[in-house]
Amino acid sequence: RRRVRTVHLQQWKAEGKRWAMLTSYDQYTAQIFDEAGVPVLLVGDSAGNNVFGYETTLPVTVDEMIPLVRAVSGAVRYALVVADLPFGSYQRDPQQAFDTAVRMMKEGNAHAVKLEGGAEMAPTVKLLTQAGIPVVAHIGFTPQSEHALGGYRVQGRGEAGSELVDDALALQDAGAFALVMEMVPAPVAATITAKLSIPTVGIGAGAECDAQVLVWQDFAGLRGGKQARFVKKYADLRSILIAAATAYREDVESGAFPAPEHGFDS
Ligand code: KIV
Ligand code: NA
Repeated sequence: RRRVRTVHLQQWKAEGKRWAMLTSYDQYTAQIFDEAGVPVLLVGDSAGNNVFGYETTLPVTVDEMIPLVRAVSGAVRYALVVADLPFGSYQRDPQQAFDTAVRMMKEGNAHAVKLEGGAEMAPTVKLLTQAGIPVVAHIGFTPQSEHALGGYRVQGRGEAGSELVDDALALQDAGAFALVMEMVPAPVAATITAKLSIPTVGIGAGAECDAQVLVWQDFAGLRGGKQARFVKKYADLRSILIAAATAYREDVESGAFPAPEHGFDS
């Protein structure tokens, strides 16, 4: 397989070819998903919840993100690696966004960055893309704005749907090469997907998007507790690891591990 570039994603859009995206925050999952042929990996600021154990993505810093981005970029041979810009690291003005994106590219070896927001982010997207930094936009439910949006809720219902269409077009015009839509009514996401020439990536945005994204700890069942409606669990790693850790603990307690072959002769 040849390394995935943004031009391939544009080709796939034109061909109507669908593709999958997963989050990754470390070397082994990056290697594994890359080997499985997942063409785009996102080092999401969902690392806040899924790696660092914060309640939201808001506390995540650029300094926390960069080592994760470097680990993922260093592990892939095929996949395009997108790094999220964390809350507060790009919203002040386009220059701040530029400085943060440059750090993600230089220190993290990211291939692209992602940022949240609608038409108001167009000048920022424009500055980055003009500087040679590929940008993924993210609209609908944008977790960094959780407190302003009043919690986890579907965005773009009713009248607000046409506003999302305008946001999508503005972000495309500004140069974004893909658009994530999170928790958007399926018909609105379908309309936007049909209107855009860049690929749309859905998460809780229906089946008509060009691509889909899931958080890996959700899709692989590592995380316990209730799943969001838009998650499909493709494995139950949590049960597998609980069984393995229990078996190991019991073997150590009983003396069954280590066996002679795990040790060294004199
Ligand atoms: O941080 C993240 O994981 C994301 C995806 C859910 C799109 O932004
Ligand atoms: Na994110």
